[in-house]
Amino acid sequence: MSRKLQTSFCGIQLENPCILSSAPPTQNKEGIAKALRLGWAGAVTKTCTCDDLITGDAANRFAVLRHSDRSIAGFENIEGLTHYPISYWEQAVRELKQEFPNKVIIASIMADDRCEKWQELALRMEAAGADAIELNLSCPHFRIESAMGAEIGKNEDQSANITAWVKKVVNIPIIVKLTPNVNNIQNIARAVIQAGAAALSTINTVQALMGVDIDTFEPLPIVDGHSAFGGYSGSAVKPIGLRCVAQLAQVAKVPIHGIGGISKWQDIIEYMAVGACCVQIGTAVMLNGYQIITTILQGLEEYVERKGIADLNAIIGASLSKITVRERLNMAWGAQSAVAVPEKCTNCAKCFIVCSESGKAAIQFIDKRITVDQELCDGCSLCTHVCPHGVLALLGVIG
Ligand SMILES: Cc1cc2nc3c(=O)[nH]c(=O)nc-3n(C[C@H](O)[C@H](O)[C@H](O)COP(=O)(O)O)c2cc1C
Repeated sequence: MSRKLQTSFCGIQLENPCILSSAPPTQNKEGIAKALRLGWAGAVTKTCTCDDLITGDAANRFAVLRHSDRSIAGFENIEGLTHYPISYWEQAVRELKQEFPNKVIIASIMADDRCEKWQELALRMEAAGADAIELNLSCPHFRIESAMGAEIGKNEDQSANITAWVKKVVNIPIIVKLTPNVNNIQNIARAVIQAGAAALSTINTVQALMGVDIDTFEPLPIVDGHSAFGGYSGSAVKPIGLRCVAQLAQVAKVPIHGIGGISKWQDIIEYMAVGACCVQIGTAVMLNGYQIITTILQGLEEYVERKGIADLNAIIGASLSKITVRERLNMAWGAQSAVAVPEKCTNCAKCFIVCSESGKAAIQFIDKRITVDQELCDGCSLCTHVCPHGVLALLGVIG
């Protein structure tokens, strides 16, 4: 594998930027080992907790939002943490580090408000050989009524306290995994960095309710007639993940692991461009298997070659200076829609309808062909998005 994909965080070398996030693909040692053999640079364990906090899982714990071709756009889960005791993970981490000394094993941990439990979990994982600890302050559904997970992660003081407790006892880097379900992720980031976080990761899942059965009125996923608010992940959440990573990169000087909706190599480039030094991937692996790493690494290699850049690190943060506030955008920029590929047009009239009802009525049919009236078009781009055949394109206009 090319050295051009190597990256690092907190002095820890990664052979490529791809880490398995804490999720079912990292639920046991065997799965993690299989993934590492296939080329993943590292893994975050399924979140470990104190033995007295482990719960079972509901039989039906997933629900999905589909595109019309049945591919999955969004994924919701109400899964809990690991089912294994901490002793299992101690042994697993030790054996994984022995077998794969050059891969990165990050131990994800979560406890309640007991300082000694956070410290015990962290100490045992450090002693087992974990390269870093990830504090799960961000699960939106596990024991939230006991003020755990995202309930802690929404509160600056509590997040900082827990980070400081763990920082006090371990020497390996502490990554704090932040929730997107907050008003201001930058404030939480500042608090945990001040308390000793060496790196940040985001996003954990977005709190959601996937749907309701319209005959029985039972919410999804149905567990004996009931459900709970769960965590939303997969492609649909990528825009939220990118926004959160960019917001962190704007204020934090520590490395950031980008997470959320990554399924292909292009997504990784986007996350790195807004400030991530590496990425974690969960749902795409659940839906497609560990093997997706092969295509991802190949795509990244080809990209680096094609762009002629020294290595992937060159693109970290490359988009940040181009993100501004709406009011500073150039409102005089004269983009307009144009019929770019007329031979693909089937006269379905979707563009005409949306432009006449929600746009500036710039699209007309002349001799059964669509045309864009450049006087009327204000370049909103709606027609380009609804066209099923890619007939229309937005073009920058000089002048
Ligand atoms: C079924 C499932 C279980 C998850 N379990 C955990 C967990 O135990 N700990 C954790 O920090 N994140 C957990 N996550 C969140 C993922 O690690 C990740 O942050 C989130 O799903 C967004 O990334 P993705 O779109 O690549 O999945 C879980 C996600 C899913 C879908």
